[in-house]
Amino acid sequence: MRTIDAIREMYNASGVHPTTDPDDPRSQFAVDRYENHLRKLIKPSMRALDLGCNAGRFTFAMENMGAIATGIDFAEIPILHAKKIARKRKSQCQFNIGDIASLPYKENSFDFALLPQNNGYLSYQSLENLSVQLKEILSDNGIFVVIMQDELVKRAGEETLPDQYDVRTGLMGGHITIPDKGVYPSSWYFWTVAFAKYIIERHLLLEDIEQIEEYKFLLVFCNNKGNGGL
Ligand SMILES: C[S@@+](CC[C@H](N)C(=O)[O-])C[C@H]1O[C@@H](n2cnc3c(N)ncnc32)[C@H](O)[C@@H]1O
Repeated sequence: MRTIDAIREMYNASGVHPTTDPDDPRSQFAVDRYENHLRKLIKPSMRALDLGCNAGRFTFAMENMGAIATGIDFAEIPILHAKKIARKRKSQCQFNIGDIASLPYKENSFDFALLPQNNGYLSYQSLENLSVQLKEILSDNGIFVVIMQDELVKRAGEETLPDQYDVRTGLMGGHITIPDKGVYPSSWYFWTVAFAKYIIERHLLLEDIEQIEEYKFLLVFCNNKGNGGL
């Protein structure tokens, strides 16, 4: 099975959990961590895109901050749940099924795009594809924010390496057991901030890198159409 299909199956099988369900207060911790940072960047009526939105907690949070928010994810089960919540809340959030690396949006569709802790699911080529697309999809001076962990900083001082590591692709393999559902391949690419920056900067201008937690970083890029990129 292709890595991308395995990840989608895994997220469909795990479904919506209290810690990811926007309707459950136990899911709020993830948004709380970054809320202050996002509030500084999101302006009223900005068209905001949540990349890998799952059940939409960041999408709804961006709407609460004043954005016109859209979430996209390739796992259908959480997207259906997000749509249900949107109807219940009378939210204007839109939810689409699709692949981050092949977005279904036209030129100048968004002013803000957020990749919140999902980059590890993207291969190096996929992040490059995403950056190329964002150059078109984002408006002039549109913002791309990546919230990511640096795997090298995370492992500093550790003597053990991941069980499986493909040196050609940076893919760390493994398995995850979902109770009552089975064992699923679990794949996560070895990303460092420097490498993500190197790839995205080929297309968008770097504005800021901020360390948020011990090994979590927030990277801000700007789509300056008149300048920068390949
Ligand atoms: C760790 S979850 C984070 C979800 C969400 N950002 C949140 O905090 O609730 C990762 C999500 O990214 C989605 N995802 C991973 N790779 C994707 C891709 N290539 N295209 C679309 N969605 C993807 C998964 O289906 C999953 O819902």
